[in-house]
Amino acid sequence: MSEQRQTVRGLQEVVAADTRLSFVDGANGKLYYRGYDIDELAGRASYAETVYLLWYGELPDAQELERFRAELVGNMQLPTQVVELLRLSPPNANPMVVLRTALSALGMFDPDGGRNTEEANDRKAKRILAQVACIVASLHRIRSGAPLLSPDPRSGFAWNFLYIFRGRQPDELEQRVIDSLLMLHADHGLAASTFAGRVVVSTQAGMHSAISASLASLKGPLHGGANRAVMEMLEEIEHPEHVEEYIESMLSAGERIMGFGHRIYKTEDPRSVHLRKYSEELCARGELRCYLDLSHRIEKIVRERKGIRPNVDFYSATVQRALGIPKEYYTCIFAVARCAGWIAHCMEQFADNRLIRPTSNYIGGFGRAFVPIEER
Ligand SMILES: CC(C)(COP(=O)(O)OP(=O)(O)OC[C@H]1O[C@@H](n2cnc3c(N)ncnc32)[C@H](O)[C@@H]1OP(=O)(O)O)[C@@H](O)C(=O)NCCC(=O)NCCS
Repeated sequence: MSEQRQTVRGLQEVVAADTRLSFVDGANGKLYYRGYDIDELAGRASYAETVYLLWYGELPDAQELERFRAELVGNMQLPTQVVELLRLSPPNANPMVVLRTALSALGMFDPDGGRNTEEANDRKAKRILAQVACIVASLHRIRSGAPLLSPDPRSGFAWNFLYIFRGRQPDELEQRVIDSLLMLHADHGLAASTFAGRVVVSTQAGMHSAISASLASLKGPLHGGANRAVMEMLEEIEHPEHVEEYIESMLSAGERIMGFGHRIYKTEDPRSVHLRKYSEELCARGELRCYLDLSHRIEKIVRERKGIRPNVDFYSATVQRALGIPKEYYTCIFAVARCAGWIAHCMEQFADNRLIRPTSNYIGGFGRAFVPIEER
């Protein structure tokens, strides 16, 4: 019998991979993609540029970006069988469940099938990124009884995503915000969904299997589900005068305020700084002003009462609301964005693979005698 070792619950602080992709600096409230502080990229780098940076290590020049953008937009289409699958999905099914199922189905139709060469993976990467966006947009269109739209081949990837989702062309501010929203969610160290994908790739199962696992993991309320809960809270509170009472009653009941706190960031989540700014820009424009007032008040009270600050999910809820995205899709939008990071991690794992196979402490018994079934 081997000696027992200490189990690290939740693998907290266990280092499970080397990565060049992103660094979450919790102590200083910083997030870096390939060495770039996200503050450098926000409002300046499009989502497609960020994807290129994560996948290939450098920001693209104008020609490289144009080629890449055209390839991504050109891949924004689905096999008819997958569109049919979306049409056949129960109307009340969680969109994340439909997305996970449809992405898995896409693997059966991919022309590169089970090929895992670098070239095949590069082609699959572009298809998966574009098709995940396309699934989310198509599902929303189908459920709204609206016709499916083709992307505009001259426009950007994020612009096109919002366009084929809503059926309305984004204006200049909306384009900047959707690019930044996706950019800010593109990667975040070894999050649970990213780890799940790397584990699958380490068995040399293909990229569709890995991204299916990542989607399955993101769906959980402890990971990607908090942004929707924030919007539900704002709708429930309704009026700024009710904030204090609502928050007090939540806290005294020992409940958590959604969109606050973070395991790694000990100061402010740097993504929320940008999202607060976008939320202020978008909501100042119209009837959504009330959500902004509510958010500011909640932020102030939670900070005074608990000393904790908003995380990425708090202001992303109002930003998405202002962009005309229904709350059922908030986690899917997170998935569209994080696909960039998941795929980058798949590529990194493929490039230097070793099967991820941890061990466990056996805490059961020994020496039990078999009892025939008729004697049990
Ligand atoms: C993200 C999260 C799971 C991190 O939790 P964690 O690292 O385990 O933090 P801890 O449980 O150690 O919390 C430390 C203290 O802050 C409090 N706290 C943390 N997040 C809180 C929240 N959202 N609302 C109220 N109190 C919170 C805890 O109750 C604890 O207080 P105490 O010391 O008085 O008991 C947690 O902050 C949370 O549940 N947030 C809400 C869900 C959410 O927004 N998730 C998206 C994350 S990006």
